[in-house]
Amino acid sequence: MLSNTATRYGAAARFFHWSIALLILADIALGLIGENTPRTADTAARLQTLYSVHKTIGVVVLGLAVLRFVWAFTQPKPVPVHPERKAETVLAEAIHWMLYGAILIMPLSGWVMHSAETGFAPILWPFGQNLPFVPKSEDVAHMAGAVHGLSAWVIYLTVALHILGALKHAVIEKDGVLSRMLRGTEAGVAGGVGGESHASALPVGLAAVLWLAVVVFPFALPVKDHAETAAVTQMEQVELASELPTWTVEQGNLTITVTQMGAPVEGSFANWNVAIAYDEDTGTGEVTVTIDTTSLSLGTVTQQAQGPEFFNTEAYSTAIFTGDISRIDGASHEAVGTLTLIGKTVPVTLSFDLTLEGARATMSGTTTLDRREFEMGAGYEDEGTVGFGVEVTTELTAARQDVESDPS
Ligand code: HEM
Ligand code: HEM
Repeated sequence: MLSNTATRYGAAARFFHWSIALLILADIALGLIGENTPRTADTAARLQTLYSVHKTIGVVVLGLAVLRFVWAFTQPKPVPVHPERKAETVLAEAIHWMLYGAILIMPLSGWVMHSAETGFAPILWPFGQNLPFVPKSEDVAHMAGAVHGLSAWVIYLTVALHILGALKHAVIEKDGVLSRMLRGTEAGVAGGVGGESHASALPVGLAAVLWLAVVVFPFALPVKDHAETAAVTQMEQVELASELPTWTVEQGNLTITVTQMGAPVEGSFANWNVAIAYDEDTGTGEVTVTIDTTSLSLGTVTQQAQGPEFFNTEAYSTAIFTGDISRIDGASHEAVGTLTLIGKTVPVTLSFDLTLEGARATMSGTTTLDRREFEMGAGYEDEGTVGFGVEVTTELTAARQDVESDPS
């Protein structure tokens, strides 16, 4: 029999209960294993598979949960087996509602986090990866991640209480509560004391308030302050000992794009500065770019990127490019010099366009570096996890120092 009655769970309710229970327990295990696996070259591929499976199971749970809700609304709710134990009944039902909330909030928060992030492990299905209305944003991913992590604790607690309760009924009381869910046998008295077959308001209300608190709590956390446009003034300005006119950078962006698991992941440095001397008559000059590598943010993989295998920011917190500028043709220029990064100095040529409008210059350029030249990510020997090429894009505007810059 598919449908419930006042004293038994039908096959559909039991199917939903056990399929979702199994998938949720598996996903909790995967989530915990993932959280406790160190992020290194050796574990990267395994972690990707793990999170892809985790996310795929999660969205399947979400689909089943929606069907379960729709089904449950059309069904009578089996009566409590011990309606005379008021507190225990309210607790058991509140936990059921918490669990109902969990099977929606857990996968939804996970999916919002996944949608807001770039790169990393995909959901293993052909129906697209991103939810509508969720922007690619580190802040959104951070919030959703906080809801996901906090909800995980709610799940640990409620599932533990729920299983303990089921065991108490099965082992100590032997009252048919577990076999009512396992085999669909009958238990309880239809129409008995408190035997109404509708959800009572108190447990639903309790669960709703608790879930609301969990979902709202992360909004009370301080939001990380990202300096999206480079805070070029934060670092001490390097002075060039040059005869040529010097230029002060007004604003700029220094972004990098790496290929992770075949997908581009873009990030930026919040703290860097540029010292430029450039003579527009000859098209020659000098440039020094100093980058605080601890200010790198690179989506989900910021910590890995700053870790010992890549930027190793604990040992090396600064990268420096110095080069001589020469005009190639019109706006097209190049700076030929060296980049010192994680203790290695490598020749680098930065090609860029420079346009001048009076005393103001706009510069934009892109260069692709090869991480192997810096022995960066040496454990990642092929491009399966992290590509060799790192695209560096610089965009900035600068004002010639000897002339008052035009305030308009
Ligand atoms: C049945 C639903 C789900 C359950 C029970 C679940 C459970 C968990 C648990 C226990 C963790 C580890 C705890 C933590 O990192 O704070 C975790 C982490 C994670 N989950 Fe889920 N999850 C579910 C669905 C999803 C879905 C649908 C996605 C994405 C589409 C997702 C993405 C993630 C990610 C990316 C992490 C790592 C978070 C981090 O390291 O910051 N999860 N999940
Ligand atoms: C091994 C683990 C589990 C056992 C032994 C178990 C046992 C039970 C039993 C015996 C009932 C019936 C209670 C009654 O008749 O009053 C029940 C109901 C329920 N369980 Fe579980 N459960 C388990 C895991 C889970 C998990 C992981 C969830 C999370 C979604 C869950 C969600 C529910 C819900 C929402 C109900 C209310 C009945 C319904 O509307 O389907 N259970 N469970």
